[in-house]
Amino acid sequence: MYYTYSDKEHPALEDISFDLAPGERVALVGPSGAGKSTIVNLLLRFWDYREGVIYLGGHELKRYSPEDLRRLLGVVTQHTHLFNATIRENLLLARPGASEEELIAAARRARIHDFIQTLPRGYDTCVGEGGFKLSGGQRQRLAIARVLLKNAPILVLDEATAGLDPVTEREVMDAVYSLMQGRTTLVITHRLVGLEVMDEILVLDGGRVVERGRHEDLLRHNGLYRRLWELQHQVLAG
Ligand SMILES: Nc1ncnc2c1ncn2[C@@H]1O[C@H](COP(=O)(O)OP(=O)(O)OP(=O)(O)O)[C@@H](O)[C@H]1O
Ligand SMILES: [Mg+2]
Repeated sequence: MYYTYSDKEHPALEDISFDLAPGERVALVGPSGAGKSTIVNLLLRFWDYREGVIYLGGHELKRYSPEDLRRLLGVVTQHTHLFNATIRENLLLARPGASEEELIAAARRARIHDFIQTLPRGYDTCVGEGGFKLSGGQRQRLAIARVLLKNAPILVLDEATAGLDPVTEREVMDAVYSLMQGRTTLVITHRLVGLEVMDEILVLDGGRVVERGRHEDLLRHNGLYRRLWELQHQVLAG
């Protein structure tokens, strides 16, 4: 696919093509501004790409209506939108018929249930612009609980654990990885952690795929992935 934002001269994405087959796990990695979130927006059909293809479950993406996509995709992005409503209502949006047990199970798996319990009105606390102010990490965990509840066949996680401390991140990622089992998943991250389980990793830089393959192949290849990986592991060790 190719994509240029209307206010930009240079394309944000050039010559990108990949296949997300049923049950497969693909990761998009690369430095900030590489074009990762742009791909997610195209996947959600906020905008349409000009050339190239995205296959979803063996069908070209453009054959799905935005409504179909919303049903098929469970999305956690960098920007979690909460409605001016209670926590319960925000969670139930994902699956209006969910029972209280299902709600709590999803919140537990997303490591947010205990926090909700500490609020004076619990699940009936109003959040959103006019309500109780949640931290970035608490919002992320609510978004993850929402996706767990929705139980969509395809998961799209764009920096899903951004804003979490390393310990909580590890816990939430464990929940997310267990959810990924046998499910089509697109993971977007610039943190190269836990990517050994991916079927394919696309390394983006400046809107292009500069490397692709599995974690161990990319490490052996000695390119951008390896450099990013070494840099992060130095930082982690230091
Ligand atoms: N809504 C927009 N309008 C115009 N340009 C945009 C828009 N969103 C992103 N861009 C530009 O497109 C390029 C790719 O941005 P994108 O958000 O896809 O990067 P990213 O890989 O997700 O980065 P990050 O790791 O920081 O989230 C950047 O040069 C950015 O400035
Ligand atoms: Mg992004």
